[in-house]
Amino acid sequence: MELNVSASENINGTLVLPLYQGSESVPESCEVGMPASLKSQINRVLSDGDFKAKKKTTMTLFGGEDGKAILVGLGKNDDCTTHDFRKAGAAVTAGIKKSHGSELTVRFDKAGVANMGAFAEGMMLRDYSYDNYKQKDEEDDEKVEVSVRITCTEGEEEELAKLVKDYKGICKGVHLSRDLGNCPPNDMYPEVFADMAWEWAKDFDNVDVTIINYDQAIKAGMGGLVAVGMGSARKPCMVIFEMNKHVEGRCPLLVGKGITFDTGGISLKPGTNMDEMKYDMGGSATVFGTMEALAQTGHEGKVVAITCMAENMPSSNAQRPGDVITTLSGKTVEVLNTDAEGRLVLSDGLWKAGEYDPEYIIDFATLTGACVVALGHEATGLWSNDDDFRTRIHEAGNDVGELAWPMPLLPAFEKEMTNSKIADTRNLGAGRWGGANTAAAFLKQFVPNRGYEKDGEQITWAHMDIAGTYWGSKTNTMVKDGATGVHVRTIHHLITKS
Ligand code: BES
Ligand code: ZN
Ligand code: ZN
Repeated sequence: MELNVSASENINGTLVLPLYQGSESVPESCEVGMPASLKSQINRVLSDGDFKAKKKTTMTLFGGEDGKAILVGLGKNDDCTTHDFRKAGAAVTAGIKKSHGSELTVRFDKAGVANMGAFAEGMMLRDYSYDNYKQKDEEDDEKVEVSVRITCTEGEEEELAKLVKDYKGICKGVHLSRDLGNCPPNDMYPEVFADMAWEWAKDFDNVDVTIINYDQAIKAGMGGLVAVGMGSARKPCMVIFEMNKHVEGRCPLLVGKGITFDTGGISLKPGTNMDEMKYDMGGSATVFGTMEALAQTGHEGKVVAITCMAENMPSSNAQRPGDVITTLSGKTVEVLNTDAEGRLVLSDGLWKAGEYDPEYIIDFATLTGACVVALGHEATGLWSNDDDFRTRIHEAGNDVGELAWPMPLLPAFEKEMTNSKIADTRNLGAGRWGGANTAAAFLKQFVPNRGYEKDGEQITWAHMDIAGTYWGSKTNTMVKDGATGVHVRTIHHLITKS
């Protein structure tokens, strides 16, 4: 989809008309340049109550020689938010068929730049399918490359064009995250992810990518990453992205869980739906996608990202339940369940983050089934050692329509994770209750103090458990199926708007 902004009054191709519930005729401000027969056709449909303009609904009008129209509902005028405009845009894209032709013109009734921008964003976000592995059918008639023109008034043109340009860049980030997540695990393993990051960075002068390979990870003492990845023929690695590294001062630092396939290891998972564990690298995909969004929108601040890549396999080289490993922090961990592997790779990623003296650290991980039990597919679990910071992330999520719900970091959970008989800490809670919270409490032990000082202040940190939101959400209008690319937009917003 190619999307442009213009103040022209022409209607090229199919007209897209967003309408409030209760509209009985074409709004006056939309009438300019509208062929009479098309207008009367729309007016008849609206006055007969055949299209009620409820949220996310669409109706196509074919017929008249004067062109076609897609009517799209915004719901009631008084409770219609920017999110509803985004959803309406996505609903239009979801309904585009070959019969609508290759050109669309969207005409709003005094919607305002923010709402028009959100509509365009929704159209672009929903314009995604993952069909790299399907044979191309030349007769495939539902696939059309469409060009969309968003019309506005002259006074709005510049601001809207800038907004749409930014959304285009952000969408690239979301779609990259989705591509990475959707890629089958035989083709997406740590080395492939690292190669992709390396190749990607070549396109940008202001981004450096460093790969810490398996041997280097062993030498560096990354015992968590090594223990999880050593059972696989596809060896683990850590990939570090640095954007605008020469900018002075502290910067945001993102850490991602990147398990390219999670079998559970020796603590093998049951077979049902195990294929979904290809998405267990969703944290790293979020981080990579966010870097892409920042790069595409020309972000000038410094940002660092660390992705911890491994495949969790059972084999004669795999770690065992009962093993004690030494992580990069020097802390030892009794591995009681090899399926609680995300926290092990993250322990090294979080500790490594301290080297960059960041302003704050946020980690992203498809960490626990328990988080899905708690919040379903509707919200990401959000923990932080700083209440204000947690609120900022929660609000950034609300601003872009991606919910991240506050969850508690309680000392009792931390205590539960430290009472190993033979090591400093353990990777499994005492029981299954509060599993998402015990996992977060485990991670907190690996968030370094500033300058790694023993009694210093712990770096501001947040943990986002995306186990329920990285895939499988049925209510996410921006996504048909597969990986969602969630939180690329949240974090881009957090970093660029504050
Ligand atoms: N990748 C899984 C978490 C997961 C499960 C995400 C289902 C999405 C859907 C993670 O590595 C895991 O297996 N966690 C265990 C932890 C347990 C052994 C303490 C879990 O949630 O069962
Ligand atoms: Zn696991
Ligand atoms: Zn996992």
